[in-house]
Amino acid sequence: MEKLQAAIAQAREMRGKTGPAHVRGVVAASVKPGAWDQIAPLEISAETAAQNRLVSLAGGVHATPFDLLRTKVLQLTAANQWTRVAITSPSAGCGKTTTAANLAASLGRQVDKRTILMDMDMRRPTLGQLFGYEGRASVFDVLEEDIDFADQARRLGPNVALSMNAGPARDPSELILRKRTEEIINEIERTYQPGLMLFDLPPMLANDDTSAFLRIVDCVMIVAEAEVTTAKQIDTCEKELAQHTNILGVVLNKCRFNEEEYGYSYGY
Ligand SMILES: Nc1ncnc2c1ncn2[C@@H]1O[C@H](COP(=O)(O)OP(=O)(O)O)[C@@H](O)[C@H]1O
Ligand SMILES: [Mg+2]
Repeated sequence: MEKLQAAIAQAREMRGKTGPAHVRGVVAASVKPGAWDQIAPLEISAETAAQNRLVSLAGGVHATPFDLLRTKVLQLTAANQWTRVAITSPSAGCGKTTTAANLAASLGRQVDKRTILMDMDMRRPTLGQLFGYEGRASVFDVLEEDIDFADQARRLGPNVALSMNAGPARDPSELILRKRTEEIINEIERTYQPGLMLFDLPPMLANDDTSAFLRIVDCVMIVAEAEVTTAKQIDTCEKELAQHTNILGVVLNKCRFNEEEYGYSYGY
């Protein structure tokens, strides 16, 4: 793990700073009264939480890595006035969805923060499975304007809204490229005024959906898998992402501290 972190640091140093910051226009307004109450609440069983590694719902020692990540994310986004964070990784299975879900749950335990998490990995959507979502409407139905966000999303506690998929979308690339998608996301932000909007994206190396979506966000978090993702993959991924948006940091997931335990580590 240390070797990987050292290699990432060295690659960054050799490359120098990644150009000027990417700036996106801010969507200003105040939250629509009662808007959050209209989103149906989601009940998550202890079994679903345990099976799907939703460790940060209740807080406590298992949530600590995500609470630390939350603090870091809040500090960096506040310092830069960023509100939209994309989450991606070089390849599939690194833990993007698990990280996004736990980060949202951790943010939800801060009463003064509102968070929206949307599943934009519309080819292989798994956020719904992770939270035991049984609704029929998907994120892409919201983006195609077949249903309102208020009727499609589910509320996790009072201040986290989850927009999940019931299955894969027919043509995710087309949806992501549409100008209307950006407008709908702006409208959602205007109505619900979240402090942070998180987007669970497809892996970088799978297709062009991720790069195309980055025009809509302020920054991106890269999730790497310990002992699987190579320093070269992270470097390639970072270079590509830096052309489109700001790099928030790299999360090193699935670090093995002993034979039975897996954990999370964060390098920024
Ligand atoms: N820290 C971790 N330790 C062990 N397994 C993990 C960890 N994070 C995620 N996983 C597991 O790895 C698999 C892939 O995770 P997922 O979040 O779906 O990845 P991605 O969204 O990047 O494809 C899932 O089975 C998940 O439960
Ligand atoms: Mg995923």
